Amino acid sequence: MLGASAAIASLPGSSGYYPVLHAQTMRILLLTHSFNSLAQRLFAELKARGHVVSVEFDISDAVTEEAVALFRPDLILAPFLKRAIPESVWSRHTCMVVHPGIEGDRGPSALDWAIQQGKASWGVTVLQAEAAMDAGPVWASETFAMRSAKKSSIYRNEVTQAAVHAALLAVERCESGRFNPRRVPGQAHALMRQSDRAIDWQAETTQTILAKIHAADGFPGVADTLWGEPCHIFDAWPEVALGGTPGELLGRRATAVLRATVDGAVWLGHVKRAGGFKLPTTLAFPEALSLPELPLEGWWMAREPTWQDIAYSEMDGVGLLDFAFYNGAMATGQCERLTQAFQWATMQPTKAIVLRGGADFWSNGIHLNTIEAAASPSDESWANINAMDDLAEAVLRCETHLTIAALHGGAGAGGCFLARAADEVWVRDGVMLNPHYKNMGNLYGSEFWTYLLPARVGQVQARAIMQNRLPMSAQESVRVGLYDACLPSEDFSSVVISRAVALVQAPEFAAQLAVKREQRRADEATKPLAWYRNEELKVMQRNFFGFDASYHVARHHFVARSPHSWTPRHLAIHRDLHWSQTV
Ligand code: COA
Repeated sequence: MLGASAAIASLPGSSGYYPVLHAQTMRILLLTHSFNSLAQRLFAELKARGHVVSVEFDISDAVTEEAVALFRPDLILAPFLKRAIPESVWSRHTCMVVHPGIEGDRGPSALDWAIQQGKASWGVTVLQAEAAMDAGPVWASETFAMRSAKKSSIYRNEVTQAAVHAALLAVERCESGRFNPRRVPGQAHALMRQSDRAIDWQAETTQTILAKIHAADGFPGVADTLWGEPCHIFDAWPEVALGGTPGELLGRRATAVLRATVDGAVWLGHVKRAGGFKLPTTLAFPEALSLPELPLEGWWMAREPTWQDIAYSEMDGVGLLDFAFYNGAMATGQCERLTQAFQWATMQPTKAIVLRGGADFWSNGIHLNTIEAAASPSDESWANINAMDDLAEAVLRCETHLTIAALHGGAGAGGCFLARAADEVWVRDGVMLNPHYKNMGNLYGSEFWTYLLPARVGQVQARAIMQNRLPMSAQESVRVGLYDACLPSEDFSSVVISRAVALVQAPEFAAQLAVKREQRRADEATKPLAWYRNEELKVMQRNFFGFDASYHVARHHFVARSPHSWTPRHLAIHRDLHWSQTV
């Protein structure tokens, strides 16, 4: 296959961004509906293999044609598309599409059908784009075992992992020039409609209802009604200990409500009302506040199937704090409850606390949806960032325990620095991180990043990370010194526990804790934490209350999931003037 042969050295006046091209690298255009987690992962993996990668959002056929003309890619890879690639492009260039289905599966809603039909295994196929959807020759494929989980979770974990393996293999095969993709017979299924998803609360079991809501999470949700109002429901959790008349709303816990099924009940965590956006259920429906509260007995409750967003357990002297906040978004109240739980954990007779986050996201910072819904988004932004800072500060000031952030899922913006507030940060291989804030309308950010980031990576690298606004792989985060360890994807949770137990049982543990205390005191004497916080919040105050509304506009579009109308220039390198001068 074609290979970009030119060697592009650092250009005068260039940012040093362009890699040197070697004979074996390819020029790969990622054509994608959005720069989602899979596109980010492929971007990082392909760049790590020396390929020159540029990104174009699928906005219109003309824009795609223009991008192809500017970049002259050896290969176009489409990780996530909602429309077909124009014939003018696929008929002249090798275009590969990542389809979230097994070989022979064709058409939309592939993963939705697989989840709703309870498939035991599923897969990903990388096929060549042609006129018929998903019917082109297969370049590579991979299968995986299914589990009972939300579609968004299966997509971010199993699908992404399989897609990365298959896409990298397909790229290698394409590069070798010796592989002939083969045609496989297949059958197309229809787009899954709301009539296929509809729930019959009077007749269906908890398991069936869960599968339906999971298959529609995080888009489009299942159309239903609550308090007689139409809405789409998301974020379902099973309940085994409670039940009632099928369809009846039984109570609430924090922001979720419980609805009875024929054989138990289902917690509904999030809903989207007609014309609105996704919100915690009790916020979207204030009527929920009249339901009886169904509290849990504390953070340490046994994890029976129920709704529990914060949970604590212990293992051999190590406290394990889980916080499975939907989409990793942390609203003011969630930050406050988590701070309380953390402080409670510091009073237990343990030696270390592992902040485990959730399985899909560790944290994505302040909760942009609840902020958008607030009477005053500026005031709510301020309350939320202060609650995040209180939590980060509690972790930073913890003297009694060694603190470890274990990132099973990704983190973005303030979530990345909240993790860095811990003494150790261990991240699962394959996880993507976005340790910067500027994509959200030039937000400055807080969570003590000005204290934490330069101390780990140096001032120059810190500035580059913040300015470049690029995703970072788990391995890269350790290479640059932002985080401390990248642990294998398989058995991440048990590896984290055994490492943490080994740390607290090591003879040097007490000395390690003493060093941490000394370091914090020395840092405090040089520049108190309060100064960092005040400096950051001063700029954040301008972001929230100042005359430049960029953050409010960006947040509004993010929450509304507005389609992109252009590709950010830091991703579309083919649109940079330097690029056209070099090729
Ligand atoms: N608040 C509310 N919702 C958030 C969120 C936040 N801070 N971060 C992510 N989400 C939601 C998204 O709206 C999306 O919702 P959906 O279920 O309706 O699709 C879901 O989480 C997944 O996010 P998505 O952007 O599709 O995931 P990704 O893996 O492609 O990208 C990030 C991950 C972190 C890069 C991206 O979500 C992001 O930029 N988040 C905002 C981070 C931020 O600016 N936080 C505020 C400053 S601290």
